[in-house]
Amino acid sequence: MREWTRDERYRVLQSADEVRDLFERIRKSPYRQTYHIQPVTGLSSDPNGFACYNGVWHLFYQWCPWGAVHGLKYWYHVSSPDLISWKNEGVGLAPDCIYDNKGTHSGSAIAEGDDLYFFYTGNHRDENWVRTPYTCAAVLGKDGKPVKLEKPLFGPRDDYSEHQRDPKVVWNEEKKKYYIFIGAQTLDKRGTVLIYESEELLKGWKFSGQLNVPGFEQFGGMWECPCIQRISGKDVLIFSPQYTRLPGRGESTNHNVYLVGQMDYDTLTFTPDSDYRYLDYGFDFYAAQLAANVNDPDKAIIVSWIGLPDNHYPTEEEDWEGSMILPRELRLRDGKLIQTPISGIETLREAEISPEGTLPDACEVQAVCPGGDFDLNLFTKEDGTGGFTIHYNEAEKKMTVNRKGMNKRFNTNVFEELDVPLENGLKSLRIFIDRSSVELFINDGEETFTSHIYPEENEHHYTVSTGTEMHIWPLKASVKDDFVI
Ligand code: FRU
Repeated sequence: MREWTRDERYRVLQSADEVRDLFERIRKSPYRQTYHIQPVTGLSSDPNGFACYNGVWHLFYQWCPWGAVHGLKYWYHVSSPDLISWKNEGVGLAPDCIYDNKGTHSGSAIAEGDDLYFFYTGNHRDENWVRTPYTCAAVLGKDGKPVKLEKPLFGPRDDYSEHQRDPKVVWNEEKKKYYIFIGAQTLDKRGTVLIYESEELLKGWKFSGQLNVPGFEQFGGMWECPCIQRISGKDVLIFSPQYTRLPGRGESTNHNVYLVGQMDYDTLTFTPDSDYRYLDYGFDFYAAQLAANVNDPDKAIIVSWIGLPDNHYPTEEEDWEGSMILPRELRLRDGKLIQTPISGIETLREAEISPEGTLPDACEVQAVCPGGDFDLNLFTKEDGTGGFTIHYNEAEKKMTVNRKGMNKRFNTNVFEELDVPLENGLKSLRIFIDRSSVELFINDGEETFTSHIYPEENEHHYTVSTGTEMHIWPLKASVKDDFVI
């Protein structure tokens, strides 16, 4: 693993030419994705500023240009007409003013009237490396680039720790106000959310108070990337609690969970209907964000980072890392989120191939399970050994996914095997494979499991339980990997 000095990590990008060679080098990697958003160079992490505006989907990702390292963060901009084909738009927000001198950190977007507004964290550090997080705003300009406001909307509160970031902006029709939810940490290091309110987007913000979530007063040490949205008459609160271990999540201290309940803006209380649930059971899933301006009361669109903070991935050696999940549609059923791949993704299918063959680099796999115990081993060697194994145990109603058998093992100290409880049993799997990721949709989206995976040349076979109805479609590329800075 390469050691980076602070100066190297926080170097400001002066000209696109400084990363052109890096781009040329990494684009030859066998692990470059074909239908998933990935960093143009360096590292991509959280999705930011996700919204539909004038019929175009805008998405940004936290971007560090220099390599697979969490250093100076930009917002890198991609856009799409349909959430399937994406093109690179170049730098969206750059850390180029005093308020964000050490990074334009995560945030959200909202389209209102004729404008698309962005809210982000200006990560300021002084010469002693003391951090001051500012909540800042920008508006999409006529040239398609966000234009920053000169001054932040507000600074941090000193009755919370330095961890105050990731503004999620929402409109509340009842109160006729905008609210900003900020991920935060109390002075005694408990994770929470701070709420601000205003009648106007670019001014008048005042602190409303700390969000109360009964039963969740001691749940992790920081709630990163909070997000709230109404779906089918319920409020869904999503956040990424850190600095804590949670049941069934190995040694990981970074998680992404959700609560379904009711948000009361008078008392600033989110009352959950039931306990928290994992948004995704996979090894690599974090900082999920819902798109703004979807305007369907029963549906939301979600994206997340395929990756976890503090973890290391094999493409670090190639000086890049990270990817976004395939956007998913979210619906509520019996108090649970159901996640399905973005509709229209079938248009990427090429002709179905014989299930006896090998696994193409980029493909969709469907398996209708015959009932009882079940095994599907992906990316095995030709003799069926090794691979990314999926085992379902009917007696325990539990699926176990293990990536230990792959040639390239990584994050072995965090987890290599995880379980997914399936109280309704296992009926079907819909799987999206790209060159360095795999996403499982279990029982039409009852649960999902997302993982990075780095198969080598001799790892493109699979084995499956007899009696399984299998379909495999190679998928066409839909994300342009071109050099736009
Ligand atoms: C989550 C996070 C955010 C922060 C951003 C910085 O992964 O730590 O809280 O804004 O990443 O890149």
